Amino acid sequence: MTAETLAHLIKDSNRTVVLTGAGMSTESGIPDFRSSTGLWQNIDPRIVASTESLQKNYEQFREFYQMRITALVNCKPHQGHLILADFEKRGLVSLIATQNVDQLHQQAGSKNVAELHGNIVSIRCQKCGKPHGKEQFLNYSICTYCSGKLRPNVVLFGETLPTEAWERTLHEIHEADLVIVIGTSLEVYPVNQMPSMSKGKLVYINREQTSTSLHYSFDLVLEGSAGEILADVHRELGDFKKL
Ligand code: APR
Repeated sequence: MTAETLAHLIKDSNRTVVLTGAGMSTESGIPDFRSSTGLWQNIDPRIVASTESLQKNYEQFREFYQMRITALVNCKPHQGHLILADFEKRGLVSLIATQNVDQLHQQAGSKNVAELHGNIVSIRCQKCGKPHGKEQFLNYSICTYCSGKLRPNVVLFGETLPTEAWERTLHEIHEADLVIVIGTSLEVYPVNQMPSMSKGKLVYINREQTSTSLHYSFDLVLEGSAGEILADVHRELGDFKKL
């Protein structure tokens, strides 16, 4: 079972949805969360990425997201992001639903992207909701309208997912006959429920099998780096397209 098998599945599919996680961005220099080099190995997410930390540990919360936003500036989409954008253009992928908050799929040219966990590129006031500039957050500003705390539009632990992105993804997953899950441990609810909501074929591309991913009945598992495996699939597909 190789990239060639996945290329065949893509050719035979009428509607393919891709679900990505932090492992999709590590080859762009952004650490993931739960692998041996992941952020949560050294940082407690409850202290820096939860509604409680926003309320009670704002300085640590702000510092954590300032660090992530600043680090993002030097990160560019890698070949895997570009290949998925190309697949969309060729009518081979109908939606990229991502847990990532880095907007690298959009930077790579993907148009139909559902941000299931929001993003850290845009900022709002926690109290009045008014949008603010990234620089204002990086410069320790408060809300210019109500003096409230500024925060990225990321979904924090304890918050619900954005309804539009969730419902659009659910709809697409129900319609899909192929779901390709890339670079996620599938540890985080409710996104980790989505693959099993599909009636289609399920494919998993990840550097390792995780304790959770082992519970899924994938039709195909490709262990390795997302960028390299997608490059192999791209090669196997040649100039095949559906548009
Ligand atoms: N190619 C393929 N897989 C990779 C790569 C790569 N280049 N790099 C890392 N991986 C794998 C890791 O082995 C790990 O199993 O990607 C997985 C990433 O899992 P997590 O770090 O748990 O990230 P994710 O599943 O996206 O986390 C979900 O948790 O912390 C919250 O909100 C955060 O959106 C995030 C959510």
